Amino acid sequence: MRKKVTIVGAGNVGATTAHWLAAKELADIVLVDIVEGVPQGKALDLLESLPIEKSDVGVVGSNDYDLTAGSDIVVITAGFPRKPGMSRDDLVRANAEIVSAATAQIVKRSPNALLIIVTNPLDAMCEVARRVSGFPRERVLGMAGVLDSARFCTFIAMELGVSIDNVHAFVLGGHGDQMVPLPRYSTVAGIPITELLDKATIDRLVERTAKGGGEIVNLLKAGSAYYAPGRAITEMVDAILKDKHKILPCAAYLQGEYGIHNLFIGVPCRLGAKGLEQVVEIKLTAEEGAALQKSAQAVEALVKTLG
Ligand code: NAI
Ligand code: 2OP
Repeated sequence: MRKKVTIVGAGNVGATTAHWLAAKELADIVLVDIVEGVPQGKALDLLESLPIEKSDVGVVGSNDYDLTAGSDIVVITAGFPRKPGMSRDDLVRANAEIVSAATAQIVKRSPNALLIIVTNPLDAMCEVARRVSGFPRERVLGMAGVLDSARFCTFIAMELGVSIDNVHAFVLGGHGDQMVPLPRYSTVAGIPITELLDKATIDRLVERTAKGGGEIVNLLKAGSAYYAPGRAITEMVDAILKDKHKILPCAAYLQGEYGIHNLFIGVPCRLGAKGLEQVVEIKLTAEEGAALQKSAQAVEALVKTLG
């Protein structure tokens, strides 16, 4: 039987994720959104592309959750973007309500599903989903690190004029300005970039990575990135559905790893069929460790606003 992936929120990120998943023939897809006609219309349009792509997955859209029953993975992208006049705390509360309501509906119908949270502010929304679902940490993950690392890879490849196939990069921490790109663990054909680029250049690429989401928002003016986020979510889904035991940077609920307790933050995670198999602890320098702690403090402050 084919696997089933539900995507809550059929906006830019949700629909683009559905596109990648269908093109890769990974699973049957259910799109859920509150706007009448939109999930149904996007699902039908995507389905009608699949005879050309020769992909045999089903794609359906709905305004309620009944079709989501028995999902293996549920991706939550539903939420508001930040609007003018809205504080960060207002956004946290508004999106927390949406993520909370969606999670409650999902849990009723798919008690064994694995949740991948995408809605911002990412790390705090993961905590909402964890509390509401009551799922163990193995089945509540957040997507941000794969996206942030892909951005860092892009800038490294552009700077050095090498194939992106040669580049591996790692970004840890919360999904915000305080994220922690790790140049020492970022390589080109296995060579750390600290051997290939001077400090000033690396600092510039790190800064561009940390502000990567904002760079796209400034260009688009209305809305934020969705092609790279959609592909990044697909990478996590692929690793889980194919039980790949693949190490990817994801937001995971830490219970002492990296000295951080009971908080979601981006760290290297080994993903397989059961979801989170292991938080991989890598050695950090004092400076890198301090940056991760600072990023964790920023996430903690946001989580506190949830009450
Ligand atoms: P969008 O505005 O295009 O789509 C959001 C969708 O959610 C809309 O279609 C809306 O109707 C739907 N929605 C709102 N309330 C809902 C509810 N109660 N139930 C079901 N659907 C509901 O926004 P976009 O670009 O798709 O972004 C979605 C979220 O993902 C945002 O919070 C954004 O900040 C976040 N994001 C996170 C990334 C990450 O790396 N974690 C990367 C990119 C976006
Ligand atoms: C991004 O990094 C908005 O979180 C989103 O593009």
